[in-house]
Amino acid sequence: MPPNLRLIIIFFFFFFVLASRARAIGVNWGTMASHPLPPPKVVELLKSNDINKVKLFDADPLVLQALSGSNLGVTIGIPNAMLRSLNSSKKAAESWVHDNVTRYISNGGSGVRIEYVAVGDEPFLQSYGEQFKPFVIGAAINIQTALVRANLDSKVKVVVPCSFDAFLSESNLPSKGHFRAELNKTMIQLLTFLDKHSSPFFVTISPFLSLQQNKNISLDFTLFKETAKAHNDSHRTYKNSFDLSYDTLVAALSTVGFSKMDIVVSQIGWPTDGAANANSSIAETFLKGFMKHLHSKMGTPLRPHNPPVETYIFSLLDEDQRSIATGNFERHWGLFTFDGQAKYHVDFGQGLKTLVNAQNVEYLSSKWCVVNNNIDLSNATASALQACNNADCTALSPGGSCSNISWPGNISYAFNSFYQQHDQSADSCDFGGLGLITTVDPSVGKCRFPVELRTSYSDCLHSNAFVLPLMTFLMAAILVSFPKLM
Ligand SMILES: *[C@@H]1O[C@H](CO)[C@@H](O)[C@H](O)[C@H]1NC(C)=O
Ligand SMILES: *[C@@H]1O[C@H](CO)[C@@H](O)[C@H](O)[C@H]1NC(C)=O
Ligand SMILES: *[C@@H]1O[C@H](CO)[C@@H](O)[C@H](O)[C@H]1NC(C)=O
Ligand SMILES: *[C@@H]1O[C@H](CO)[C@@H](O)[C@H](O)[C@H]1NC(C)=O
Ligand SMILES: *[C@@H]1O[C@H](CO)[C@@H](O)[C@H](O)[C@H]1NC(C)=O
Ligand SMILES: *[C@@H]1O[C@H](CO)[C@@H](O)[C@H](O)[C@H]1NC(C)=O
Ligand SMILES: *[C@@H]1O[C@H](CO)[C@@H](O)[C@H](O)[C@H]1NC(C)=O
Ligand SMILES: *[C@@H]1O[C@H](CO)[C@@H](O)[C@H](O)[C@H]1NC(C)=O
Ligand SMILES: *[C@@H]1O[C@H](CO)[C@@H](O)[C@H](O)[C@H]1NC(C)=O
Repeated sequence: MPPNLRLIIIFFFFFFVLASRARAIGVNWGTMASHPLPPPKVVELLKSNDINKVKLFDADPLVLQALSGSNLGVTIGIPNAMLRSLNSSKKAAESWVHDNVTRYISNGGSGVRIEYVAVGDEPFLQSYGEQFKPFVIGAAINIQTALVRANLDSKVKVVVPCSFDAFLSESNLPSKGHFRAELNKTMIQLLTFLDKHSSPFFVTISPFLSLQQNKNISLDFTLFKETAKAHNDSHRTYKNSFDLSYDTLVAALSTVGFSKMDIVVSQIGWPTDGAANANSSIAETFLKGFMKHLHSKMGTPLRPHNPPVETYIFSLLDEDQRSIATGNFERHWGLFTFDGQAKYHVDFGQGLKTLVNAQNVEYLSSKWCVVNNNIDLSNATASALQACNNADCTALSPGGSCSNISWPGNISYAFNSFYQQHDQSADSCDFGGLGLITTVDPSVGKCRFPVELRTSYSDCLHSNAFVLPLMTFLMAAILVSFPKLM
């Protein structure tokens, strides 16, 4: 082969390898919403935004059906609650693989292109204690064995998503990074397992939580601002919070002998409501800075020119039923609102400068529930607090988008959220006579009072889209049956 042809081939080889690396950006698709956007609409949304990888938290049949034939790379998840039985029973693992992988996996064009099975959802989260940890490795091994038996182990890799708090560095120096002491043994088992099967280490990196918890990290440093004050670790210079966390993990991996382990950032993002610094403009700045950093392929001081092999943004959509144990921002991680509308714009490297909204979204009627100002409101606060137990009042929390609407506007917000979550049923706007249904949008400024999505068939009966044709049909039927009446 002539030397320049060889050079050209090598050039194109690296060009495509690097280009495919740069494109390995996906999203997390969670479904903990009272009125989830229908799965086919979500798949449409992913495709119109040229997103080609998606990570799920379970293996919902409706979601997998919608993903069939889409050619998206899919990670399916095993909920933590299943880990115990999957550890103790090889049979349970075989059934799980049969029911949730074999049945859907693509053979050529149709089916789902399942790339990973995620065993557990951050099972090593510190707040879980020992609840799931003892079962994780056994469950992962049993799922791997079941995949081998189903002859799917060459297509599907087994991974375990690790939480941001699985590793740390007390001094904040990345080079001193290590796993939490009580995880050391489990981590060595996990890494040995992953290494044996050439599977990557899935991990959450959370610059937002680092900012919240670590007073020594500035907002500018978190947002990739050139002007941020750098952090030094002997001769290495850190210019942003992501690199600091990532290298803390790299050091932790090295400490236990896995310095070359591939890393997938399985969750990273920025919330837009429910806390200080959680708004769309900061989220946009963060993601733009992060994307620029990834696309530069610069890597980090401990892994120069070796960025994560894949990255999954957290999250695709807002979810109004997510647990708020760690904070009210938890329901606002979406790039898109609950109804698939872009909150801001960011280029994932697919060349689109703006995000494309979900199309033809079907809502409930334009009706809201507010507090009736004309009556004694002395008991209204108690009613609102009760509504907030079930409904989503996170926008009212300090720093939230509705934190500035004064009383009794905040009561109306709570009433409306409860009313929408109950599909606008009249009795869900009662509140002992304090509620009032209105067709005037009570939103003020940044504080939006949402109208929920139409998700169930029974709702169709209340909608003009169905009633009008029905009325026309009935009228026609009457005219045909009783021509003499005319
Ligand atoms: C996990 O399963 C194995 C095999 O059945 C069993 O020996 C072990 O006790 C299980 N682990 C726990 C923590 O129950
Ligand atoms: C997956 O498989 C298991 C075992 O057969 C089954 O219990 C479960 O309902 C399936 N679906 C999901 C979403 O996990
Ligand atoms: C974890 O394991 C590594 C490698 O065996 C060892 O060097 C390190 O001291 C251990 N750390 C703890 C906290 O046990
Ligand atoms: C805080 O950050 C600065 C750099 O901005 C660094 O010099 C200092 O050592 C850090 N302090 C701690 C306690 O991490
Ligand atoms: C970090 O190191 C750089 C280059 O060695 C130096 O210019 C800078 O002042 C140092 N920053 C801190 C906070 O020590
Ligand atoms: C977002 O938050 C920052 C800092 O709290 C604030 O300066 C900025 O004005 C906010 N932007 C919007 C659009 O609310
Ligand atoms: C407020 O609630 C108390 C206790 O349920 C009730 O006795 C009182 O009549 C209520 N006040 C109004 C104005 O509805
Ligand atoms: C709320 O009002 C205060 C004072 O007017 C203002 O500083 C703050 O930015 C406002 N916050 C929001 C979320 O609108
Ligand atoms: C509404 O605001 C009032 C006055 O600031 C406060 O006492 C009440 O707890 C708030 N209610 C809700 C549901 O946020």
